[in-house]
Amino acid sequence: MPDQWTPPSQRRRGIDFTALGVPAGRYVLPDVTDFLVGPTGTQDGAARINAYLSGSATLDSLQPTEVAFIRDHFLQAAEEQRQKCVAYFETKVPRRYAGAQPTAIAAAWAQSVVTNPDDTRSLLIVGPTGTGKTHYAYSVLRAVAETGRTTGWAAYTAADLYARLRPRTGRDSEAEFENIADTDVLFIDDLGAAKLTEWTEEVTYRLINHRYEQCRPGIFTSNVPPQQLRDALGERIASRLTEMCERVALKGDDRRKGMAA
Ligand SMILES: Nc1ncnc2c1ncn2[C@@H]1O[C@H](COP(=O)(O)OP(=O)(O)OP(=O)(O)O)[C@@H](O)[C@H]1O
Ligand SMILES: [Mg+2]
Repeated sequence: MPDQWTPPSQRRRGIDFTALGVPAGRYVLPDVTDFLVGPTGTQDGAARINAYLSGSATLDSLQPTEVAFIRDHFLQAAEEQRQKCVAYFETKVPRRYAGAQPTAIAAAWAQSVVTNPDDTRSLLIVGPTGTGKTHYAYSVLRAVAETGRTTGWAAYTAADLYARLRPRTGRDSEAEFENIADTDVLFIDDLGAAKLTEWTEEVTYRLINHRYEQCRPGIFTSNVPPQQLRDALGERIASRLTEMCERVALKGDDRRKGMAA
């Protein structure tokens, strides 16, 4: 038995995407017959490419045109994957927030989430009504999609989440809970908007606690002022949110007032 466990993601050796200048990801390998029909394709080159792809040769052993063939294949695969992630985002984002564009900070958070989810603190976006919290949160989810990584995400308002998780005959609400609780990036909008009942407090606690214990990143919004979070959400939830979240405070007037015709 080997004395060191290797994560499955590192077991298939050979392709160093950073060295190739390609974003990391899980891509289909190129077909060398495409190389052979190209102007520079030779049988020797195809053999070298195969050796590299199977992990028995290094990138240095390849000719520049062979490296270019591999790089172009993976760059195209990465771009196709990115387009799929953005297209999925665009089918899910509420129409009002479809145009929300990430700031550089939001994009940096998204990059950190896809590369290092366990070490990325969640975001708690706070601010008065209409300051752009939901808009900001969707801009962050767009940035996650634009990384092209297959990081899963889901978005719910707290009220919709409770409606979804309420026990109902014929539905396994516990399975639904686990599904939601295990989402890679979970966005819960409007925490503390309604007065918590014993049941909603328990569900919120279980959800936040699960994410807290598993160090899974999320995005939360609330228009409850920070000093009132404990009263609105309960001590246990507020304490966990404080530890696990980076706070983004939005200020200013209600943007909706400026938009009224
Ligand atoms: N940075 C922005 N640029 C352009 N429009 C914005 C921006 N931020 C918010 N908006 C627009 O302002 C309006 C209010 O934003 P949003 O719904 O995100 O506010 P909110 O803080 O979530 O409000 P609430 O507390 O009521 O949920 C929306 O129409 C939104 O599209
Ligand atoms: Mg909102």
